[in-house]
Amino acid sequence: MTLQIRTLDEYRAVYERSVRDPEGFWAEQAATFRWHKPWRRVLEWNFREPRVKWFIGGRLNITENCLDRHLETRPDQVALLWEPNDPKRKVRRITYRQLYGLVCQLANALKAQGVRKGDRVCLYMPMVPELAIAVLACARIGAVHSVVFAGFSAVALADRIKDAQAKVVITADANARGPKNIAVKTVVDEALSMGCSSVERVIVLRNTGDEVPMTAGRDLWWHDAVRGKRKTCKATVVDSEHMLFILYTSGSTGKPKGVVHTHGGYMVYTEFTFRNVFQYQPGDIYWCTADIGWITGHSYIVYGPLLAGATTLMFEGIPTYPDPGRFWEVVQRHKVNIFYTAPTAIRALMAAGDEWVKGRRLTSLRVLGTVGEPINEEAWRWYYERVGKKRCPIVDTWWQTETGGILISPLASITPLKPCYATLPLPGVQPCLVDANGNELEGPNVEGMLCLKFPWPSILRTTFGDHERCRLNYFAAFPDKYFTGDGARRDDNGMYRIIGRVDDVINVSGHRIGTAEVEDAINKAPNVVESAVVGYPHPIKGQGIYAYVITSGPVGDLSAFRQAVLDTVTREIGPIAKPDKIQVVPGLPKTRSGKIMRRILRKIAEGDTSNLGDTTTLLNPEVVDEIKSGALV
Ligand code: WTA
Repeated sequence: MTLQIRTLDEYRAVYERSVRDPEGFWAEQAATFRWHKPWRRVLEWNFREPRVKWFIGGRLNITENCLDRHLETRPDQVALLWEPNDPKRKVRRITYRQLYGLVCQLANALKAQGVRKGDRVCLYMPMVPELAIAVLACARIGAVHSVVFAGFSAVALADRIKDAQAKVVITADANARGPKNIAVKTVVDEALSMGCSSVERVIVLRNTGDEVPMTAGRDLWWHDAVRGKRKTCKATVVDSEHMLFILYTSGSTGKPKGVVHTHGGYMVYTEFTFRNVFQYQPGDIYWCTADIGWITGHSYIVYGPLLAGATTLMFEGIPTYPDPGRFWEVVQRHKVNIFYTAPTAIRALMAAGDEWVKGRRLTSLRVLGTVGEPINEEAWRWYYERVGKKRCPIVDTWWQTETGGILISPLASITPLKPCYATLPLPGVQPCLVDANGNELEGPNVEGMLCLKFPWPSILRTTFGDHERCRLNYFAAFPDKYFTGDGARRDDNGMYRIIGRVDDVINVSGHRIGTAEVEDAINKAPNVVESAVVGYPHPIKGQGIYAYVITSGPVGDLSAFRQAVLDTVTREIGPIAKPDKIQVVPGLPKTRSGKIMRRILRKIAEGDTSNLGDTTTLLNPEVVDEIKSGALV
């Protein structure tokens, strides 16, 4: 096990050492894992190409560290504790020994289907244990998983399958979410009808039991695929820098990009941060409410906790089903010790009223966590007082898909808390703030764009199939720095507060959505000529989506038009990207070079039109008043 920090002084000393001697520090952490061959060099890097490699020459398989090494010490401990959507269905408890067997069995099945080291496997699945099993089975044989959140549409799924050139898709009949079952397999069928020629096989898990069409010669039931397969499977030993997974995420331009993480560094960093941030103790029941379709689920439902030998709770359902007391009922029944969720869920449950949390016995809770978006002070206080009863520290963890693991966060019960602050960098993490000219802002009480000056083991290695895009997106804005896309503030104690995105990415309910993607989708709706999308403050979702739309003629029935736009966005991306507000406008404010002035549109969406700045230099200043008068605020 990696080092576990116990006091603030120790944190300070470890941090100082990790900056002075990063290679020595990370080599010590890495040495606690099972390797087939030690590394020759700890780190090689430059942020210009960029080129980052950790534990060079080392050979391993991450799943041996998630599974095999625990068979000696905790074979009968529950690894995966699964809570179904329907509270009347049976909870599943899968021990480390059982999980090992199930992963190996599916790994053998994948091999039998022709999946080889380096092949991409797309997982489009509900939150059932088989999703975690499929993730690990891919890793076991050196294949690359690309999990796509099951809320994405067929078009979005097809884009991701094509970009990754996936050979196999693993899916399920349907997804039980709240009161309804949502079709999953038919979405895959639709995606595959859009020219995903790389796909040779679809493996289908029988989950809800809903009837689904099977395509002969292509589709195969999971239970048939694993039948008769052995429950042991020698792990494919890979290079430290062998690709572990691709995860698509939105940026400010173009289609989502496939962020690439690799076996060695990702393993070391997720285990280390899991144990230190949450101060995990053996025997704890740990629950992260994210979906495995996002990075939080990858790093802190599957890999981090399993690497640390923890019991990780996986929840199939939604926070409000059958009622808004569901989270607290689950915490009480499973005696959860560490609970990790998103601000949007906290705000939604807070709005549902205190009665849902009041009657519950939450004494098992020791640590609370939040992730995905800035948490407002009111939600922070409610979480601290009503859920944690002022006993439990809140770890406000800041990180990104690209960072693989938590970078800035309190260590539970060690770092002093400050509401809305992610506080201090973890060991090995060297943040800085820069101004628009790239000058580093020194000292306390400064605000700027958040960058990282030095690599940590789980930094993204590339964007799949397009390394130049990786360079342009993250490493080109400021020389020799990784740029996060976030703005942040540093206080007089060196603590960081994350303010939010400074690029054209909006954060809706903790989900990253690119404005360009939504605009592209809206532009496909009937009658639409052009659109511009901005975020605005939303009381539950954090940010809502505000769309300004130019149409080719009179829209007629406005509500039918809006519905058509919503349907188009749902078809092109998925329901999570649906605009909250759609305003039909005669034009969009543009500069003389034709650039849309989003700053003005953002102000109008926020309902703050007192100071729009100088609009006289616009190509079409007259539209501003027209937009203002029709604003939906
Ligand atoms: C935002 C999620 C404030 C931020 C792990 C970042 C946060 C983006 C926090 C990454 C936090 C994440 N406080 N903002 N604690 N955590 N963010 O890739 O804008 O889905 O850039 O990764 O979420 O979102 P992603």
